[in-house]
Amino acid sequence: MTIDFDKLRGEFPLLKETTRGKPLIYLDNSATNQKPQVVIDALNHYYCHDNANIHRGVYELSERATREFEKARVEIQTFINAAHSHEIIFVRGATEGINLVAQSYGRSQLKADDEIIISTMEHHSNIVPWQMLTEQVGAKLRVIPISDSGEIDIDDYKKLFNARTKMVAIAHASNALGTINPIKEMAAIAHEHGVPILVDGAQAFPHMPVDVQDLDCDFYVFSSHKAYGPTGIGVLYGKEKLLEKMPPYQGGGDMIESVSFTKTTYNKLPFKFEAGTPDIAGVIGFGVAVKYLKAIGMQNIAAHEQDLLVYGTQKLSAIPGLKIIGTAKQKVGVISFVLEGVHPHDIGTILDDEGVAIRAGHHCAMPVMERYHIPATVRASFGLYNTNADIDALVKGIMAVKKVFA
Ligand code: ALA
Repeated sequence: MTIDFDKLRGEFPLLKETTRGKPLIYLDNSATNQKPQVVIDALNHYYCHDNANIHRGVYELSERATREFEKARVEIQTFINAAHSHEIIFVRGATEGINLVAQSYGRSQLKADDEIIISTMEHHSNIVPWQMLTEQVGAKLRVIPISDSGEIDIDDYKKLFNARTKMVAIAHASNALGTINPIKEMAAIAHEHGVPILVDGAQAFPHMPVDVQDLDCDFYVFSSHKAYGPTGIGVLYGKEKLLEKMPPYQGGGDMIESVSFTKTTYNKLPFKFEAGTPDIAGVIGFGVAVKYLKAIGMQNIAAHEQDLLVYGTQKLSAIPGLKIIGTAKQKVGVISFVLEGVHPHDIGTILDDEGVAIRAGHHCAMPVMERYHIPATVRASFGLYNTNADIDALVKGIMAVKKVFA
């Protein structure tokens, strides 16, 4: 099936906006991406027609809201090929998913001197929750180094395992470098040592097909807002057998079976981990976003974004003084770069004047910046609606930067 990505772009109302008097060129999709009209309509429809609390009401409206909410869970389950819908836990985003696993699984299973393997390229949200856990239980972090191109050497990873290794937490794709990690292989190695693996899928889920059973990861987290869905919602996928033995992360409504002052018993999966009224509209909107992605086909989206990556890499590498940071063989559509003699924030400001939205900074991955001895990078990150013309506008903007700093 040939997909007309230019036509799809027309389905995203925000992309028709202007900024600084110029047409908006949106190249900050790793931070968040824009929403198609169907997702916006779903949120509107929910509040106009279906709004009620879920899993509680005996009336038709509440049943309707519950039905739509649970339909989204199944939509997401089949999208990532999870074995059961109760393995899909709704959380606020990938960050909360990792914190949940660190505090529930980690705190109940790890003890002093145990070790957690992460990598140098992790986002802060896949570092700090584990650091907090190490402080609480006296465990240690072991960090996989990365090469100059931004890749993990599997032998370096293997060397970090020992009898004290109790957890691996690794990004599927790096937000700062674009590197795609060999998760299937890394999961198999972790399992040879009897260690579970959590995959931070925030930067991979919107850009490629994800099959959690094929990857054989134990936990996989992702955010809706980076995948064309609403903000404030995300998913923790976990294998049933692990989720079953984990204690609740938060206490409150919906996560209990019965409460008394002497003994409280907890609800079954997935509700045990969904305390309080969730972002019902957000979940329904995310379900619609996933259905939208499914209709386009993740293979098609991946191929389109790879074309953008190849074109963008060619164009940007040809600019004198520009250096791409992160040149792994397998990358998502992320190009991080530095320009000789110009601070990334100045580049960001001048590009903004040209109508080009990119991110400049450390991308919540300060250890990556440290690895390359740089304070920050400029990052262009692509989504399904981007075109070569957007990249041409970025290149034109960089030429304007060079003129200012000449
Ligand atoms: N994690 C997001 C980014 O990389 C916010 O920009």
